[in-house]
Amino acid sequence: MDMTRRPRRLRTDGVRPLVRETEVSASDLIAPVFVDATTDERVPIETMPGHERVPVEESVARVEEVLETGVEAIMVFGIPESKDEQGSRAWAEDGVVQDAVRRISEATDAYVITDVCLCEYTSHGHCGLLEDHAQVDPDLTVRNDETLDLLGKIAVSHARAGADMVAPSGMIDGMVGAIRAALDADGHSEVPIMSYAAKFESAFYGPFRDAADGAPAFGDRRHYQMDPANAREARREVELDVEQGADVLMVKPALPYLDVVAQVREDYDHPVAAYNVSGEYAMLHAAADKGWLQLEAVAHESLLSIKRAGADLILTYFAEDIADRL
Ligand code: PBG
Repeated sequence: MDMTRRPRRLRTDGVRPLVRETEVSASDLIAPVFVDATTDERVPIETMPGHERVPVEESVARVEEVLETGVEAIMVFGIPESKDEQGSRAWAEDGVVQDAVRRISEATDAYVITDVCLCEYTSHGHCGLLEDHAQVDPDLTVRNDETLDLLGKIAVSHARAGADMVAPSGMIDGMVGAIRAALDADGHSEVPIMSYAAKFESAFYGPFRDAADGAPAFGDRRHYQMDPANAREARREVELDVEQGADVLMVKPALPYLDVVAQVREDYDHPVAAYNVSGEYAMLHAAADKGWLQLEAVAHESLLSIKRAGADLILTYFAEDIADRL
């Protein structure tokens, strides 16, 4: 037996940190923040222990909590006071996200990213304008091209309020190009777009849909979000967003799609983001609650795996807890 090669030599406490290939640091993490126009006090999100929907008046305080942990970037999600067919509160100048972002960017140094989508704002919960026959024909849900104008309006309203970056999450064909054009036309050519480029129609979003009150009232999102079975299709999806000017490419969810993260890393020089989604967070919490897993260890290992697969930035509900520990 040839025992010249002994990998264990590099596993002592002294040398392990020197040869470590991957690290998670607070500067890689983005913390999701939920701002809720329907409440005047903080409401715990049952399916995501440790997270809350906060009223607009509390948004600065909430972001200060994030900053204290060392995390410098946030992703803002809004729950509007009312919903309609078009989702018009999504681009209102006095909308919940616009109001919160104005306060946060005035009062803090946080890097503010906003989720650009319609599902929390439409009465039917879909990510765009509905086709006339959507309720009867499951193959028809969102009117793609008419939705693009609205996404442009939402992104512009966020940029005007002070958003540093916008993140379209609706999987509407052409959304990145439409948003880029709208931002540029309104004088926001410096605002980057982080595209949810390969977003899958995943059952792991369940807890978020409770948190943000954005579940579709009928049908599902299969006609715009990707089939979980398809990695080659993800290549074509991402390519389109690159052509339309996406600055950061996101894969979502993260852990069940690490092959896709690795593939995007391999294919492009762009920064790659991964969204460690609500279901990935909730399942670790649930198992830890039962005493079956050690929460901090599995959370850290999850984030490490996402970085190892090739992500530069990670959106995660663990951001504050992990940053605190680092
Ligand atoms: C859509 C959006 C969703 C998430 C982020 N943005 C929900 C969806 O597509 O149904 C999910 C995030 C998570 O599960 O953590 N605006």
